[in-house]
Amino acid sequence: MKFVECKGLHGEVTVPGDKSISHRSVMFGSIAKGTTEIHNYLQGADCLSTISCFRKMGIEIENRGDVVLVHGRGLRGLTRPAEVLDCGNSGTTTRLISGILAAQDFDVTLTGDASIQKRPMKRIMEPLSRMGASIESVNGNGCAPLRISGRKLHGISYTSKVASAQVKSAILLAGLYADSETRVTEPYLSRNHSEILLNYFGADVRTEIEDATGTCGSANIAELPGQPQPAGRATAVIRPATELHGNLVEVPGDISSAAFFLCAGLMAPNSEILIRNVGINPTRAGILNVIRDMGGNITLLNERAGSGEPTADILVRSSSLHGTVIEGAVIPTLIDELPMIAAMACFADGTTVIRDAAELKVKESDRITVMVENLTAMGADVTATEDGMIIRGGRPLHGAVIDSHLDHRIAMTFAVTGLCADGETEILGAECVNISYPQFYEDLKHLIK
Ligand code: S3P
Repeated sequence: MKFVECKGLHGEVTVPGDKSISHRSVMFGSIAKGTTEIHNYLQGADCLSTISCFRKMGIEIENRGDVVLVHGRGLRGLTRPAEVLDCGNSGTTTRLISGILAAQDFDVTLTGDASIQKRPMKRIMEPLSRMGASIESVNGNGCAPLRISGRKLHGISYTSKVASAQVKSAILLAGLYADSETRVTEPYLSRNHSEILLNYFGADVRTEIEDATGTCGSANIAELPGQPQPAGRATAVIRPATELHGNLVEVPGDISSAAFFLCAGLMAPNSEILIRNVGINPTRAGILNVIRDMGGNITLLNERAGSGEPTADILVRSSSLHGTVIEGAVIPTLIDELPMIAAMACFADGTTVIRDAAELKVKESDRITVMVENLTAMGADVTATEDGMIIRGGRPLHGAVIDSHLDHRIAMTFAVTGLCADGETEILGAECVNISYPQFYEDLKHLIK
């Protein structure tokens, strides 16, 4: 796929449903009693992997495109799959499903594509084993394939080194089945979609937030949207459940997909884009704060509370940007947007420093190495660090051949960057956008003047 410099981007776009919330709606719907009706489910390959895994465990799921119906069979309603569960490219499927499988009364093997088979799974194997599960890496390298034998589980109090919603959610899901309360503490609050949706389905989950001085306060999860991201440790607490209840889920548009249009609108000259129905849960919306810090012109319109997940339309206009420092508590709220933000920083005056983001190395690709390699090929002044990047903005970029490493967010980042660089940019493996945003190129091209 090839891109050349554009004169401007104009118009409206509605991004597809949120990937994290789509996964969770099918997973929780499958282990709830009754039917869950999901609107705006993301029809990307990752979320289709989740549907396929639960179908293999006896759950009837009707995928009508605009609406997905999950005929849940209750906490104990899954059946032993006849074959290996294939999670494809999806870390969320692999890690969250492991928390559910840890408590079933059958054995199962989970696997995925070449990228999934390199991603760290010890981070869930260790806490789930402490709860009593039997979970082993088939090749002994701490990665998938994973062999899981369900067991009776005990509640634990676990402190995670990383702020990871996938780790937290795997433990909380196992905690639904445990014999006592389960607590997961993380250095900063990671995305809280599991907590919101589990409560909505009738589970008892609460969040305790420490402020920067270590003082602890209890937060009702429903009150968190709209408040600034807390700077201290966060603990999610779940009580064992007797049953969850199916419900209607409206999936908001994915801010991680919207990020490409937000940055495109800021970076490209003479541009104005309206992005409709974007989820702005504060545990996900750190990119909006960074854009404001960099001097970007964005306006939130039509803000709506939603059912625990706030949304807004976002108007973005071309802006002169300046560098910033991105670190600490904000990192988990924009972790998937950092490739696009790093590219945007090349178009800002001055230096942008990204730190505390070592997690980038264990995403679908090593996103620090891959970003530095590709931005350098386009003429940017960027240096990799142990836990992030230093980007010295202001140098004009030129087109180049970009290796996406089959990482969907890298491909989308460089499609946008290619529109703002001199000459032609070719993206190898461009079709990998089907993981999270199958219509991405059509939507982007529609905005080009
Ligand atoms: C996700 C959590 C994040 C994110 C991923 C989706 C989720 O991963 O990068 O794309 O749905 O919980 P980590 O939990 O590993 O940070």
